[in-house]
Amino acid sequence: RWRRLLQTQAAAWHLDAAVAFDIDGVLVRGARTLDEGRRALRILGGDNRLGRRIPFVLLTNGGGVSEAAKAADLSRRLGVAISPQQVVLAHSPMQALAAQYASRHILVVGGAGRRCADIARAYGFGNVSTPDDVVAWRPAAWPFMDVPDGSGAGAGRDFARDPFHAVMVLHDSFNFGRDLQVATDVLRSRDATAGGAPTGRQSVPLYMSNSDLVFSNEYPRPRFGQGAFHVCLHAMWDALTGGAALEHTRFGKPFRVQYDFAERLLDRLALDAAPDTSVPQLRARRRIYAVGDNPAADIAGANGAGWTSVLVRTGVFAGGPGANDPAHPAAMVVDHVADAVEWIIDSER
Ligand code: G3P
Ligand code: MG
Repeated sequence: RWRRLLQTQAAAWHLDAAVAFDIDGVLVRGARTLDEGRRALRILGGDNRLGRRIPFVLLTNGGGVSEAAKAADLSRRLGVAISPQQVVLAHSPMQALAAQYASRHILVVGGAGRRCADIARAYGFGNVSTPDDVVAWRPAAWPFMDVPDGSGAGAGRDFARDPFHAVMVLHDSFNFGRDLQVATDVLRSRDATAGGAPTGRQSVPLYMSNSDLVFSNEYPRPRFGQGAFHVCLHAMWDALTGGAALEHTRFGKPFRVQYDFAERLLDRLALDAAPDTSVPQLRARRRIYAVGDNPAADIAGANGAGWTSVLVRTGVFAGGPGANDPAHPAAMVVDHVADAVEWIIDSER
């Protein structure tokens, strides 16, 4: 009954606009939730001049959790109900690869413990191992750490005989050295196992979920992101092979695949609100705004997708008043996400 009452009281939709919010450096900074983030979502929920709700998605290069877990966490922190269908994580579009690798053995890199392996399994990858499993099988594979928890979990699997078909970096590495070693072992090995003799060529495809060199958390200066891991991986590959090519497929902002995925989620939200309309009709009239803090990811990607980009000063971008990013200029630069949403509402009729 409560839900029905709330639904009847909720403002009508304004489907001519939609917003994609970046998370880190825009709505939150690490463990700290920004007040402006709460305010922005209240405004978008109907507390605005139009008296209407504007659909939104969260479009983040973060990950390492499920879309449902991210939605639940941010709903609690931001004080609004956010559904998993409003969340695009860096690795969300990678689920499209599951058909190709359904039962083929893949190495999943990144994140805490084996959590990313569980995410991959939920996406439909049926045969997943992690660097944790490899080190649990042979601790000497990475001798510079204590034997990991759950040692022996890799047992039963002989990584010297069980080849991989792909290396997928799903999230920031929580153990750069170990993950560089194990990923390089597999990519260089003649038979694509974790222990095989190296050749000069890449054994299997490499997929990466995000290229952010840095991202913003509660620390005063930006921190290394997954892109930093790629730089290290490429540098090691270069040094070991004398410059052989390391092919890779990238996901995450600023790449188009992320924007197409987000746009399909926005279509679905709009169709739920207006079932009588069609996707081409919706798209023809809809302006999509993207609010972000990282010019190289959020602004470059939004500009490339033909969206209206809004850059905030609460994260990676450190330009002062009047400044814009020279390489990836945003349509608008504001102090924080609440100002971004005010500007969006002002731009709408
Ligand atoms: O690891 C997260 C980071 O690279 C970026 O997150 O929300 O700023 O795209 P976000
Ligand atoms: Mg960000």
